[in-house]
Amino acid sequence: MNDSNRNNNPEDNGLYGTFKELYENKAMEITLVGMYEKPFNHVYANVGGYYRGEAEFYLRHIREHGEKVLELASGDGRRFLIPLLKHGMQADGVEISTDMLELCREKLEKLPEEQQSRARLFNEDVYGFTSDSKYDAVILPATSICLFSETEDGISRLFGKVKEAMADKGVFIFDFRTGPEVGSETVPHKIMIKTENDRMPVVYQEFPGSPDGWNTVNFYTEWQGRKYMASSRKKLFTGDEIKKTLEAEGFEIIDSLRYSGGAMNIELLAAVLKG
Ligand SMILES: C[S@@+](CC[C@H](N)C(=O)[O-])C[C@H]1O[C@@H](n2cnc3c(N)ncnc32)[C@H](O)[C@@H]1O
Repeated sequence: MNDSNRNNNPEDNGLYGTFKELYENKAMEITLVGMYEKPFNHVYANVGGYYRGEAEFYLRHIREHGEKVLELASGDGRRFLIPLLKHGMQADGVEISTDMLELCREKLEKLPEEQQSRARLFNEDVYGFTSDSKYDAVILPATSICLFSETEDGISRLFGKVKEAMADKGVFIFDFRTGPEVGSETVPHKIMIKTENDRMPVVYQEFPGSPDGWNTVNFYTEWQGRKYMASSRKKLFTGDEIKKTLEAEGFEIIDSLRYSGGAMNIELLAAVLKG
């Protein structure tokens, strides 16, 4: 199973500006792949840490509710699944991209066996996942919820899945990007990623503030002698929209944290089931 994280509209490849021009120039021989497929799985796994207060917020609320955690869209596990195991917890992950899971498995194999034995990885779409047990905490970090809005009812179906997997007294912790973000596209950024075997030049550019509330980032890289592009779309929410859906699904918010960095605004919530 693999992801694409592309638009549903086959006419729209999600590329803008110079990225679109270069891709359409056939002489460039650029391959378009999903944001969480090879080689961009390596890019994700090598950039970005935690924003201020993020890791502490998750740890505190998980500890208050137990030690059995389910991470939805767990990716390469670097930010949450692996550290949670090191903190002595049981951590299961659900992830649609085999390429992200491959990186997570590599990290798991480097842990002591006892820690490895407290993790299970499921290569599944969150929407199709049926949990065989109940979790003290279900987490969905890295504003991944913004990837789950391709259909109108995407978020309420997602919250339904969370309820299915969560213990009655459990906690659900997740964050989301808020919008609208005004302003035009950012300038392209260039970085160099160092993986175990490669050095990958990466150029990326964000195209924020689209009127329909979607934010797009285009990526370019070179890997093993070939050129690749990917486009990642995230829905920007108003806090009200998400909170209304959360409450309609029977959750009650118990804590929140806001983070602003540059043009990016994030809200992090912890919620429990009412009553
Ligand atoms: C922004 S990354 C977050 C990874 C990790 N949770 C973290 O905090 O670093 C989003 C992840 O969601 C996964 N994903 C997207 N849609 C999914 C779906 N429907 N089911 C499962 N995983 C999904 C992607 O493959 C990607 O690894």
